[in-house]
Amino acid sequence: MKINNLILVTLAASFITAAAARAEDTVPPAASKTGVTYATDIKAIFDASCVKCHSGDKAKARLHMDTLAGVLKGTKEGKIVTAGDSANSFIIKSVAHTTKDHDSWMPPLKNKAGIKPLTPDQIGLIRAWIDQGAK
Ligand code: HEC
Repeated sequence: MKINNLILVTLAASFITAAAARAEDTVPPAASKTGVTYATDIKAIFDASCVKCHSGDKAKARLHMDTLAGVLKGTKEGKIVTAGDSANSFIIKSVAHTTKDHDSWMPPLKNKAGIKPLTPDQIGLIRAWIDQGAK
């Protein structure tokens, strides 16, 4: 009996530790790189992973990610970048999968184009870009 209880407590503790670790890991930290701009660092990421669905006449959510102006303008519902504040920018929650609504996770987990989620390094670079003013 006592041993069973001990096993249960140990199991519960390890689950809690794992959950806490996941929460911390969810949003990668901003990259330490300085001088990050849309043109030099960010456009290539968006071109590869977002522009297929977010450009042209049929841009999803009317979000145009092929120009800096388009990204800053945001979707039909509003801005996705808060310059200087990556932690509260919707685009980061979207690509890091921390929005409650899984439909907002981008790129969509299942997409015919086979576009993969952004890597932690890419998300960190986008964070650094936003924190440095989204220029
Ligand atoms: C395979 C197509 C596809 C790709 C690739 C894609 N998106 Fe989307 N995106 C969509 C669709 C579909 C919607 C939903 C449109 C709607 O609801 O009107 C959407 C909506 C959004 C929204 C608004 C979500 C909301 O809940 O308001 C944001 C922000 C967004 N995308 C960002 C991105 C970013 C950033 C990338 C690249 C990292 C990306 N998307 C890649 C298809 C795509």
